[in-house]
Amino acid sequence: MSDPAFHEQNRERLVRLLRDRRAAGLFFTSAHKVRNHDCEYRFRPESDFWWLTGFAEPESALLLLPTLEGQARPRQILYLRDRDREREIWTGRRLGVTAAPSALRVDEARPIERLWDDLPTLLKNQERIVTRTGLEPERDRQLLETLTKLRWAARGMVVPPLELLDVAPFTHELRLFKTERELEHMRRAAGISRAAHSAAMRASKPGLNECELDALLEHEFRRRGSTGAAYTNIVAGGANACILHYVENDQPLRDGELVLIDAGAEWEYYASDVTRTFPVNGRFSAEQKALYEVVLQAQLTAIAHVRPGVSFVSVHEVALRALVEGFVRLGLLVGKAEELLANEGYRRFYMHRTSHWLGLDVHDCGAYVRDGASRLLEPGMVLTVEPGCYVAPDDESVPSRWRGIGIRIEDDVLVTPAGHEVLTAGIPKTVEEVEAACAGRTLAGAT
Ligand code: GLY
Ligand code: MN
Ligand code: MN
Repeated sequence: MSDPAFHEQNRERLVRLLRDRRAAGLFFTSAHKVRNHDCEYRFRPESDFWWLTGFAEPESALLLLPTLEGQARPRQILYLRDRDREREIWTGRRLGVTAAPSALRVDEARPIERLWDDLPTLLKNQERIVTRTGLEPERDRQLLETLTKLRWAARGMVVPPLELLDVAPFTHELRLFKTERELEHMRRAAGISRAAHSAAMRASKPGLNECELDALLEHEFRRRGSTGAAYTNIVAGGANACILHYVENDQPLRDGELVLIDAGAEWEYYASDVTRTFPVNGRFSAEQKALYEVVLQAQLTAIAHVRPGVSFVSVHEVALRALVEGFVRLGLLVGKAEELLANEGYRRFYMHRTSHWLGLDVHDCGAYVRDGASRLLEPGMVLTVEPGCYVAPDDESVPSRWRGIGIRIEDDVLVTPAGHEVLTAGIPKTVEEVEAACAGRTLAGAT
């Protein structure tokens, strides 16, 4: 599955940054999370750790020592669970210490049990340590204890680390700019999401339960080789779509209502993040269609705006203006667009931002602000564009025919030197395409 050369290149890119700061890097994979007594959630490696190693076993850590004195080249030590016949019968196969160096192209592998005993020696004379704290209290405690040991030992020529640096300017900054290899994974994830959303449109009919579409999405993701959903699927019929993070997915789908599906497949742990909203019975009502066209127009305008040199926040501003103008046109809001934008009179219908970075994490890493201002887009960045409109079912400020309509349309957009590329293109999106897909037809040239 994973490509050791890709992860090796990632380590090399990071090592160059670490060397400049005379820093060591220490990266841990995720901890197992308990679901309930004796049951754990399915393990998913921590994203930085995966990016650096391509190794998906739990209980592992990576130490990068780029500047160790007297060393010709950087040293990379992977700590992992060793082979254990008895344990492997219960919890599955392990790569083990002997096989890891050649399989993962690291210099050295050691049993994870040795990590904390080894660190005081290995971190001697490292001026800085780049690591992420604040996730696992026990790990933080052991790290501080290691630093204390190093300070005790510090005499003569031994210098203890003086600074702990966060990973954000290191791995997160590198991960923000996707390489061709990463984009291949993201296109693959997008392609699987395309198939799953199209299948859900085809399958939808009044009387189905949200859970049936949820299960269908999961089936489409997994049977196409995806590691699964990149985040918990949202399948929200009718007014459930007005709950932004609705994940119960257990209500009947009713004739005459819309269903909002926010679901994205993951490929090699790279996310896609896609939302489509379509009529349960395959045909938009007049109100649904009018509001859908407003959201669609806002989304298309915002996507068209994406190109190098424009600020991240301006994508939101462009979508927001189009939404507000649309709400005024439909009579949902009364007043001048300018004033409604200034006094945030739209927040009743649109309360979230339009974009976030996308990559190994669905809300991916990378700073949104540079020197106090919204960051400018650059080639290689991937962001979502996901405007919406949510009219609460009890909103008496609007005629009843609008109430309980929730719509969001979300695509994943790569910034290219010439402008942008929609990674999730081809998933039915216009009213015509959506209605055709619900009827089991595909329109030629669907976007
Ligand atoms: N699916 C999470 C989001 O759209 O941000
Ligand atoms: Mn999103
Ligand atoms: Mn989403």
